[in-house]
Amino acid sequence: MKFFIDTADVEEIKALAPTGLVDGVTTNPSLIMKSGRDFREVVAEICAIVDGPVSAEVTATEAPEMIKEGVSLADIADNVTVKLPLTLEGLVACKALTEEGIDTNVTLCFSANQALLAAKAGATFISPFIGRLDDINVDGMELIRDIRMIYDNYDFRTEILAASIRSANHVKESAIAGADVATVPPAVLKSLVRHPLTDKGLDAFLADWAKTGQKIL
Ligand code: G3P
Repeated sequence: MKFFIDTADVEEIKALAPTGLVDGVTTNPSLIMKSGRDFREVVAEICAIVDGPVSAEVTATEAPEMIKEGVSLADIADNVTVKLPLTLEGLVACKALTEEGIDTNVTLCFSANQALLAAKAGATFISPFIGRLDDINVDGMELIRDIRMIYDNYDFRTEILAASIRSANHVKESAIAGADVATVPPAVLKSLVRHPLTDKGLDAFLADWAKTGQKIL
């Protein structure tokens, strides 16, 4: 499973990149707003830090404008993936950009049928939003499972990018359900490594080691 980080905070990306766990980055207009920075500048900086796909979202709502924005965003760097909303216009733009050889991430997916349409439009990634479904008492993980089955039934190459992930459990469940990628907030990525028994065990090993009076180097 690949991990993308869901942030437009360049400092956080710089801090996490050396871990080798960051396979890509996803941004959205809300994350850009939160960063308080210029969109194109942030995307260019992120693309220089991370080799993998960096999603940058269009903000037009009509296909011709979305396509123009997508082409312009793709010009920023080779690893830009153009993010498009799951609307009919977004799907038209997805097909056109795909035919131009530009990678796409179709976002705001809340149903299996929407994911089916995105795959037919040639999307590189589909982003089902798990957390936002859970928020309205719909099982977000069931959507991931359904999309996995549909894509496998028809051998669609579109990668399932589990988004709106709020917890370590969401990451585990997405992996079990067969998502290709999880895009996770930095805090969730960092939480994955932590276990109290690891800390407790390490403390005990180090205390016993100190008692031996030895050094490895
Ligand atoms: O990038 C989209 C996404 O992951 C949104 O997450 O927490 O705002 O629902 P959230």
